[in-house]
Amino acid sequence: MEPNRIWHDPVVEIFSNLITPTVCYSAEAYDLANRRWYRLDVTEAEVPDDDWLAETVASHVRAYYDAHQQVPPWNTINMTARDSAASYEIRADDLVSRPITKFLSYGTEPTDKLPTTSVDELKQLTYISRSADRCVWRGRDCVFKRIEFDVDIMPIAQEIRAREALIEAIGPVGSDADLNVEMTNRFSVVPILAVVIGNRQPWKPGTVAGFLMPFCGSDLEILTRNPADELPITEAQLRGLVRGVRELGRCGVKHGDIRFWNTVLQPGEGSQEARLLLIDLGSVAPDYDGDAKALGTLLLWCVARACSLKADGAAKARVVAAAAALRADEDFDTALACLSGESRSANTNTKA
Ligand SMILES: Nc1ncnc2c1ncn2[C@@H]1O[C@H](COP(=O)(O)OP(=O)(O)OP(=O)(O)O)[C@@H](O)[C@H]1O
Ligand SMILES: [Mg+2]
Repeated sequence: MEPNRIWHDPVVEIFSNLITPTVCYSAEAYDLANRRWYRLDVTEAEVPDDDWLAETVASHVRAYYDAHQQVPPWNTINMTARDSAASYEIRADDLVSRPITKFLSYGTEPTDKLPTTSVDELKQLTYISRSADRCVWRGRDCVFKRIEFDVDIMPIAQEIRAREALIEAIGPVGSDADLNVEMTNRFSVVPILAVVIGNRQPWKPGTVAGFLMPFCGSDLEILTRNPADELPITEAQLRGLVRGVRELGRCGVKHGDIRFWNTVLQPGEGSQEARLLLIDLGSVAPDYDGDAKALGTLLLWCVARACSLKADGAAKARVVAAAAALRADEDFDTALACLSGESRSANTNTKA
C-alpha cells in the first residue's frame, strides 16, 4: 500500500477482462479504496461478469486483511474455476499495474500561482471517492484530489487554472490564508491550498500528483443518501451560493458542473455560519446548460429536500422563483432579489 495510507474496505473496479485462447479470463482490477492494482486469472468455460470479478478480488483482499491486518503481499489471484480455491502470486509490478503515462508539471513557471507541497507531507490518507482521499496535511484536515489515471490529468490542470483565474481576479492580498478566505467568501469556491508534487510511482517524480483542499464537509449527495435524510440547509445559504456563482461569472470563470454532488455543506465554526461551497470546477460537463441554469436546477433539488424550505411555504416560493429566474433568463440579480425576499418583480435589478 502507498505510504501514509489507512486501510479501507476494498472498492474494486475492473478495467479490462481479456479472454485468452486457453479459456483463461484475465481481469485487471483496481482497488480504489486502497489504491492498488490486482490481476485475477480464472480458467473456466463460462465468462464471468465484471461484478463477479470485482467482488471476487475484493473478497480475497478483504479476507487477507482480516487475517493479517495488512494488505496482501501478492497482486495476482489464480483460480481454476469460478468456485475453486484460489492460489496467490507476486508478479512484477509492471505486469499488473497500469502506469500513468502522461504527466503535468507545475511550480516553475511565473504564471504558476499556487504553492506546492510533496506527496510525502500528506498523512493518514483514506478513501473518499475515485479521485479523492481525505488526509492530514501540516495538522490540517484536508482532501487530496489525485491524478489516478491518465484521464484525470486534464481536469486537474483545468481545476488548477480555474483557481488561478480567481486568484488573478482577487488581486494582491496579504497572505495565502487571506486569499483562501476571499476565495470562499466571494466565490463560494473551496480553495486549493497547494499543488501536490509526486516523488514516487505512480506519478513521474517531480510532476503533479494532484492538489490539496481543506476538508469542507459532506457533499449534498452524501447528505441525502438515505431517503429519510432531510437536508439541513437554509434560504440564506442558497442565497450565499447564488451570490458566489454570480461573482464567478462576473470574473469570466465558468464552474462547468454545478450539481448537488459538487456542492459541500461546510459546518459553521466560531463566528462563521455553515455555508454551501462548490468543488470540482473548471471542466464543462457534456450537455451542460451553463452555470445559471444548473444552479437553478440545484435550487429546485434543494427545495424538495430541505426541511426548513418544505416547512416554510413563503421561503419555498422565494427559492422556486429564484430558480425560475436562473433557469429561464440566467438572471442572477432577480434570483438574489427573490431570495432576499425584498422584491418578487422579474425586472428588479437589485445589487445584492
Ligand atoms: N474540499 C472538499 N471537502 C470535502 N469533500 C470533498 C472536497 N473535495 C472533494 N470532496 C469529496 O470528494 C468527492 C470527489 O471530488 P470531486 O467532485 O472534486 O471529484 P470528481 O472529479 O467528481 O471525482 P469522482 O469521480 O471521485 O467523483 C466529492 O464528491 C466530495 O464528496
Ligand atoms: Mg465531482
